Amino acid sequence: AARRGGGVGTAAFTPVKPNRSDRVVVPRGYRSDVVVKWGDRLFKNSPEFDVDSQTPQSAALQFGYNNDYVGVLPTGRNRAQLVTNHEYTDENLMFPTGRYDSATIKKIAIQSHGMSVVDIRRGRRLGSWEQVPVRSARGNRRITGTTVFTVAGPAAGEKRLRTAADPTGRKVRGTFGNCAGGTTPWGTVLSGEENFNGYFDKSGELDARYTASYARYGLTGSGSRGWSEVDPRFDLSTEPHEPFRFGWIVEVDPSDPSSSPRKQTMLGRFKHEGANVAISRGGRAVAYMGDDERGDYIYKFVSARRFDPRKGRAARRRNLQLLTEGTLYVAKFTGDGTGDGVYDGTGQWIPLTSDTKSFVPGMSVADVLIDTRLAADKVGPTKMDRPEDIEPNPVNGKVYCALTNNSNRGTSYPTDEANPLAQSQTRAELGGPLTTRSGNRNGYVLEISPGKGDHAATTFTWDLMLVCGDPDAPETYFAGYPKQQVSPISCPDNVAFDAVGNLWISTDGNQLGSHDGLFRVPVSGAKRGHVEQFLTVPTGAETCGPLISADQRSVFIAVQHPGETDGATFENPSSTWPGTDDFPRPAVVVNYLG
Ligand code: FEO
Ligand code: CA
Ligand code: CA
Ligand code: CA
Repeated sequence: AARRGGGVGTAAFTPVKPNRSDRVVVPRGYRSDVVVKWGDRLFKNSPEFDVDSQTPQSAALQFGYNNDYVGVLPTGRNRAQLVTNHEYTDENLMFPTGRYDSATIKKIAIQSHGMSVVDIRRGRRLGSWEQVPVRSARGNRRITGTTVFTVAGPAAGEKRLRTAADPTGRKVRGTFGNCAGGTTPWGTVLSGEENFNGYFDKSGELDARYTASYARYGLTGSGSRGWSEVDPRFDLSTEPHEPFRFGWIVEVDPSDPSSSPRKQTMLGRFKHEGANVAISRGGRAVAYMGDDERGDYIYKFVSARRFDPRKGRAARRRNLQLLTEGTLYVAKFTGDGTGDGVYDGTGQWIPLTSDTKSFVPGMSVADVLIDTRLAADKVGPTKMDRPEDIEPNPVNGKVYCALTNNSNRGTSYPTDEANPLAQSQTRAELGGPLTTRSGNRNGYVLEISPGKGDHAATTFTWDLMLVCGDPDAPETYFAGYPKQQVSPISCPDNVAFDAVGNLWISTDGNQLGSHDGLFRVPVSGAKRGHVEQFLTVPTGAETCGPLISADQRSVFIAVQHPGETDGATFENPSSTWPGTDDFPRPAVVVNYLG
């Protein structure tokens, strides 16, 4: 089926069929290797992973849990740095029942969050990659739930960011809920702090000054992790400011393992899925960002200063400041009517604040950056169906956003042309009947064309390139491509591009009875809309990360939360992928023509 040459963007492959295999299923002719998995050693002093004798100290020296974002930054012809997020932990799958006390589990979980930087090198087969042995790895790094971050941008030091442990409001320990991300043109990695609200519990009343803000961010103090048992800052009632120190985009410089990672406050605070940067016509850094919640918004940031493309320390120093000054916008979508048979229209980026001047009446710059959702609510943006990854296509200059689903569309959220479905068809079991359910269950892929092709423009046109689901369901749409030839796709989450500009889409939460997977779809030419499934992931897993290597030989994915199914436990797992143990281990996988 697959041919050599041209790389994954142009190679034909026989699409993988929907299935429920407990493995990574790739097209005939392709191979799939684990690059690094939960617990793997990263440093000379890392202990070997032993599920029965985990400690917080060992977790901090090993690859973390639930890898999500995947970045690959070349450091030589045959070497690269792999940068991943560790979004959250599945304690019921990580720890043998009864073996650890509750405080130890929490401390290990905190150290298993965060990010990893891992030196990797080409393997023996063309397209394969493997971890560099730790004895010769120089760039490896773990960022955990206790690593110190510097707060950057206009909100640094603001009163609401100060706590008992950090009276400066400029030094935050840890990052949590890191979902997707992006690699910047200046070689740093951005990572989104998404569901940070779930990390806070409470022992008493909540601070009444923050009622509106807490409510808008889902900060109820009902976080079930109970981390305040081991660190009092997670008690919302006694440390009301700690949650204001999360919900940011963090920026990490993998080339300097001793650098402080930063929380970039100019990019606003919400449930950040991730951020992806393009350079505008005039040289500004433009970061596109989604707020992953039902009915929340799409944002972008445009830097005040210009990107310096030169090599060298001076340019690098300047570029590292790009995200600290500029303007934050939120998107409004206007439909042109459905009489044309297409969900499309025009749009506007509404300015919220610059680093020096707020455009939202009654709110300061810091107010807008800290309570970005409340600020956006005042300017009338469009409530979207859970904006996930949003990324500019470097080949055609358009921007693609995964809108994963919204079970409440058509009920608590009225439909509009950008969010058109009040009902959709799903399938409870693979091969079972399609049944109609309320809401948008399978998601969309939104295509944005910046005004005059300039990412800094404040106007755009848009269309829903894909209305996802089963091709047999009448509501689905694949950019007009013949539906009998496409793969079913449900709940798009992360997006990536290959060298010819094809869009690659990974999914989370398939509603058609199959495991989640990765899909390739051309965005132009006669094949525009021809969605083909490239792989599926093991039982209970979501497909994250996707990244096509610069040489087009390798398709990286993160297999997140294998075995995460209802009722699964360490002793009774629903997955034993990748097969090294009798319990599942999240891992980064490389797929290549073998
Ligand atoms: Fe962590 Fe929005 O998915
Ligand atoms: Ca239309
Ligand atoms: Ca995601
Ligand atoms: Ca997800």
